[in-house]
Amino acid sequence: MSARNRRSKSVSFHSSNLGKKDLQLFGDSVRGQVTLLEGDIFRIFLWKNEEDEQKKSVVLKQGGLGTFDLRRENDSLFLSGNSERSLRIDLKPFSWDWDGVRGGIKLFQDERTGQGLVMVLEEGSGRRYYGLGERVGRLNKKGRIWTNWNTDPKRGVRLNTDPLYQSHPFLIGVEEKRAFGLYLDESWETRFDLAASSGGRSKIATCGPTFDLYLIPGPSIKEVVRRFTTLSGKAPLPPLWAFGYHQCRWGYKSEKFVGRVVQQFRKYQIPLESIWLDIDYMRGYRVFSFDERKFPDPKRMIKRMRDQNIRTVVIVDPGVKFDKRWPVFKEGLEKEAFLKKMNGEIYVGKVWPGNTVFPDFSRDDVRKWWGEKHRFYLKNGVAGIWNDMNEPTSFSGPENSVPFDTLHSSGTTHAKLHNLYGYYMNQACFEALKRARPRTRPFILTRSGFSGVQKFAWVWTGDNRSDWKHLSMSIPMLLNLGLSGVPFVGADIGGFGGDCDGELFARWMWLGAFYPFMRNHSSTGTIRQEPWCFGRKILRIARDAIRFRYRLLPYLYTVAEEACRTGIPVLRPLCLEYPDDEKCAEIEDEFLLGNDLLVAPALKKNQKWRRVYLPEGQWEDFWSGSRYLGQKSIRVDTPLESIPLFLRAGAAVPLTEASLNTKRAVWKPLIWRVSLAERVTGRVYEDEGEGFKKGRVRKIRGSFRKGTLKLTQGKSGTTGKVFVLIGSGKRYPLGGRSLVLRIREKKI
Ligand code: GLC
Repeated sequence: MSARNRRSKSVSFHSSNLGKKDLQLFGDSVRGQVTLLEGDIFRIFLWKNEEDEQKKSVVLKQGGLGTFDLRRENDSLFLSGNSERSLRIDLKPFSWDWDGVRGGIKLFQDERTGQGLVMVLEEGSGRRYYGLGERVGRLNKKGRIWTNWNTDPKRGVRLNTDPLYQSHPFLIGVEEKRAFGLYLDESWETRFDLAASSGGRSKIATCGPTFDLYLIPGPSIKEVVRRFTTLSGKAPLPPLWAFGYHQCRWGYKSEKFVGRVVQQFRKYQIPLESIWLDIDYMRGYRVFSFDERKFPDPKRMIKRMRDQNIRTVVIVDPGVKFDKRWPVFKEGLEKEAFLKKMNGEIYVGKVWPGNTVFPDFSRDDVRKWWGEKHRFYLKNGVAGIWNDMNEPTSFSGPENSVPFDTLHSSGTTHAKLHNLYGYYMNQACFEALKRARPRTRPFILTRSGFSGVQKFAWVWTGDNRSDWKHLSMSIPMLLNLGLSGVPFVGADIGGFGGDCDGELFARWMWLGAFYPFMRNHSSTGTIRQEPWCFGRKILRIARDAIRFRYRLLPYLYTVAEEACRTGIPVLRPLCLEYPDDEKCAEIEDEFLLGNDLLVAPALKKNQKWRRVYLPEGQWEDFWSGSRYLGQKSIRVDTPLESIPLFLRAGAAVPLTEASLNTKRAVWKPLIWRVSLAERVTGRVYEDEGEGFKKGRVRKIRGSFRKGTLKLTQGKSGTTGKVFVLIGSGKRYPLGGRSLVLRIREKKI
């Protein structure tokens, strides 16, 4: 996006009118409306033409509009709802001041679309920005221009690549310990210049004809995220098996090949939840087909794996092979389901199948049609769907995608709908899986998406590389996705492009054991990276990491269930839980899983030790049981065999024993790993791990005073064994519901 000329024009309104629940603004070239939504979110919506008022939006229907007080002083209007932030609007020229966050909006002409609106935000030097979804770079997004235009970068993800596969035009600003959120609900290409071109101001621009801005109050980051996910939606609770270990590679080229991979997992007793089939399974890369030579009996193959508790996930690309004899192509043609060029011909691009056409997922009937096609996979026993190339990629198009001026059936140009393409494809898939299997929780992974994509799919961060920098970059990338409302995320473990080595692999497997989504994936043409590919020592380490993941499942699943209810992510930057601690503000080489576990991985080659900052409170080394006072940075060793992991004092973290695969989310045994403190609390969420029956929460409470630990567990619904694990090793059975123990106090 670029301005044709640098001149931009201020927006002015000559009058305003207070409607029942909105404030209407009237100008010569622009109209505006201000409303107050649930959660004290102000929406400022500007548009130029009546028809643009009906824009595409992913914002959930709001229960009703709130009322606000309005006071006028000449050309200034003062609006206040219930939140601590009130809004002042100046009409001539239009600008707003939301309790110190100040912006103005101007018109400009984008080179390609001939239209555009830009918001200029005044910057204080101390402000930090988080969010913006999937991005390279640091946790704090200030100081760079970020573009929202879903892109499959030709050379994969590099350390500097922008834009990437997803668009999340959502920012969290933090200034003087107070947080606020800005969400620009525009699907057109948008650009966030965060004090990059000029230190004194940020510019947020869209090349579309409307400017739809939501001002989301805090005052904490958590509160901003919670309120934002009332707009963009929350993730549904996934099946338990989604949290297991997934094995994937581009190049599992036949049934026999897959069989050998599975055999190795069994031989080495490595837990395995699912095998993923990449494009190798298709006949000539036709979606909704199996290559009968290489996969002669997919149903049998999938069943054989399922009998060993291993599920199968298949890749689905949106592009349909241009093949007049291929029923999917023919049906789509009859429905006029494919994107067209300006001259009315079908747009034909290039993807894996060669000449390829693209369904218009913005249409309800096309989504339904596409969705129904998934019955083909379900009939064969497939458990989950992996939606890829849905930016959409078109190798022959500009920026590796479908051209800007391609037409959707509604007559709308692709420029407006491009960023929503993957979002709609996931919606199609999600709704279809629910229709076809109403008692099963859908599991979908996607590469492309937009704010709100979490309602339908999990997200992985695309084509990273087997490289130390990518290992560390995955942390801020996943953290910012989480802050943007997407809780279930992961990066390709071991790296996708390039060759991995044993040391990097071991480190990545341990870090990956804490990703919400744990999948090992690599590209064809790179060296193999299954757990046994780097020798016996690395195999042992990788297996330990996966086994640890399975021990952690009760906790992970409990945090996941919380994320689905509250929108607060599973992986959390320290600043989310410790907003008052300045030191936590930009930490991006350690993170929290939920709020009880702090993970501080080794991220460099040959790393023997590292420093770990521990926030307020006391912390316990998970492995040794050593105690530390917080608000200090400590030095820890980083042996290849494990990962620095700390437990918050006072936490009781639910664990279980390792197993080769998941079963029900009813934990047998349930092991409370307790970190002693005057007050101890913990909770665990349990259900069938599948289906929609209501789950239940078990709580544990207690105290540790003068060497005596007293614990009581709430009524348990199950008969399984329960243990309490203290320090680095000792386990005590929790007979009945209470436990009293004398423990020698450790020195800090
Ligand atoms: C894309 C995906 C990658 C996949 C490959 C082949 O590059 O990002 O994960 O393996 O296509 O389907």
